[in-house]
This record gives sequence, C-alpha cells and structure tokens, in this order.
Amino acid sequence: MARILTGIQSSGRPHLGNILGAILPAIALSKDADNEAFFFIADLHSLTTIKDPKQLCENTKATAAAWLAFGLDTQKNTFYRQSKIPEVCELTWYLNCITPFPMLANAHSFKDKSDKLADVNAGLFIYPVLMTSDIIGYNADFVPVGKDQKQHLEMTRDIASSFNRMYGETFVVPKPIIDERVMTIPGTDGQKMSKSYGNTIDIFLPDKKLRKVIMSIVTDSTPIEAPKNPDNDNVFALYKVLASNTKVSEMRARYVEGNYGYGEAKQALFELILSRFQNEREAFKYYISNPVELEKRLQEGEAKARIVIREVLSRVRKKLRY
Ligand code: ADP
Ligand code: TRP
Repeated sequence: MARILTGIQSSGRPHLGNILGAILPAIALSKDADNEAFFFIADLHSLTTIKDPKQLCENTKATAAAWLAFGLDTQKNTFYRQSKIPEVCELTWYLNCITPFPMLANAHSFKDKSDKLADVNAGLFIYPVLMTSDIIGYNADFVPVGKDQKQHLEMTRDIASSFNRMYGETFVVPKPIIDERVMTIPGTDGQKMSKSYGNTIDIFLPDKKLRKVIMSIVTDSTPIEAPKNPDNDNVFALYKVLASNTKVSEMRARYVEGNYGYGEAKQALFELILSRFQNEREAFKYYISNPVELEKRLQEGEAKARIVIREVLSRVRKKLRY
C-alpha cells in the first residue's frame, strides 16, 4: 500500500481550475485500492499570505466542503487541517536546524520576492521546511503536485536524506508525482485561471452570481451574424474541457456557421456547469450550511493523522535525545 499525500492551500475559494487540475485527479488517485491518501488543508502555509482570520477560516471551510462535495472518501483516506496537528511545527523546528540557509534562499517562492525583502516574513522563508514536515512527518511515499512545487519536493528529499545520514534511517524519502500533461484551465480573461489574477470561476456560487461570472468572460467583438473561430475564444475553450465530444462538435459547428452569438455560447456554458456539477453544488451547500458535520469529518481525519505523526516524532526525539 503506497501512501499518497498532498496539501491544498486555503488561500481562496476553490475554482474550476483547482477542481479540474488538482481536486479531481487527486480523488481519482485516492480511489485506487493500492493507495491510501493523506490530503490536508495547508492553512498554516496560507497564514504566510492571508492575515484576515475570518477570511482564512472561511476559505478553509470552503476548501474542505469542495473536497467532500467531490466525493473524497474520508473513511478510506485521511483528510485534515494542517494547523490542528501542531506536532508538525515541532518537527519543523528540528528540520530548520539542519536546513542550510542558502538552500532556502534559493527557493523560487522566496527568490521571487527577494527584491522586496521588507514584505517577506520568516514564515515565507521557511515555507519549504514546513512543507517537508507535512510530508515526511506522515511517512508519505508519493506526493502529487503541480510543476510549480517541483523545487519544494527536491528540498524535501534533500532535508529528509540529510537527517537520515546525520542521525540514522528515520524518514521515508518521498517521490513527487508531477503530471506534465495536466491541462491549464483558462480564466474569464483567457489567462491561466488563478486566484491571483481575479479571473476565476467559482462553480459553487448561487445561480445568478455564477451566470454573471460566465457572462463576464472576455470575447472579441465579431458581430452575431459573422462566423467565429472557436479555437480563438475563451467561452469555447472552457466549454471544450467540460462538454461531451458530441456537444463540443455541435458548438464548433455553430461558431463556424455564424448567426451564433457569444451570449448564446455563454448561456450554454452556464447551463452545462449547472448540470455537470449539480450534485457537487448541492453537496457543497450541504456542508457549508452544516458546519457541525464538516467539523466532524475533519476531526475524524485529524485523529487518524495525529497517530501517524506522533509515532514519527517520537522516533525523531529519540534520535535527538529529546
Ligand atoms: P491559484 O493559482 O488559484 O492560487 P493554486 O496555486 O493554489 O491556485 O493551485 C492549487 C492547485 O490547483 C495546484 O495543483 C494547481 O496546479 C491547480 N491549478 C490551479 N490553477 C489551475 C488552472 N488554471 N488549471 C489547472 N490546474 C490549476
Ligand atoms: N505548497 C503547496 C502549494 O502551494 C501546498 C503544500 C503545503 C503541500 N504542504 C504540502 C503540497 C505538502 C504537497 C505536500 O500548492
């Protein structure tokens, strides 16, 4: 049985890009009978950027509700909030003390901001060490992540191997799973959909608000009568990743024929999102309006996760004679 582990930041509400690019593939991995998945909400990492406690708490709830709404089996797998298992912070301290400063100074997540050092907090600097504890504290074998996390996984492997060399075999050295083929879902403006660009589609919005977002997708000004190029349009690009092949061919033909406005295409996309995610939208609403149930599911995961990290931590303390 291989242990698959990944963390999801709660820096915003999950959007269509997160769902298609991360949540659905991770849930598919977790269903494999040979895998056991540890999925957690990296709310301590989110604290390096989000300072509003209410907002962070709401993001964490929405993130948890989204994973449950998409059918993550919390009996088979372990689903928890990083912050509820403070053992990870103790482990981070031990690992901080063997992590070379230049390694962290070389991390993209830090380097990208190093021209404005006044804005960098120490949490952001040691971010990769906390991430290492998240992984090796739970004996993970494989870590599915996006390409942007590749360097953090290399650091994780370096830190785990250094500790093993210095103090004797203690940690499992994990392997990343980086799926280069994962498609990039475009946002309402055609750039990569991302919280940081304000171009996201939140499929859990109430109907009216969701429709407004879909209607705001940027298109060119080709008149209704004129034929349109589907391969150069954001509405079609989004429709394509969600619709069946037949529906996609039908829409392509309408674009090419002309007399088909972007407004109609947007309406079709809106209806498709409503029907395709009907169950998930209902389940999400259920969890958000039943915080006791949401809390119960998370606490069950936290109890399971705590047992694992405590065992790892006691091994580490023994090695360090603490
Ligand atoms: P954001 O860019 O909105 O801040 P994150 O960096 O938190 O998103 O990404 C969380 C996960 O969702 C990552 O695994 C990432 O690869 C995936 N993801 C984010 N945006 C997209 C997108 N537009 N298309 C596909 N996957 C995405
Ligand atoms: N840094 C990751 C991201 O931004 C989130 C994360 C935190 C993570 N801890 C992790 C991912 C451990 C995998 C394993 O996406």
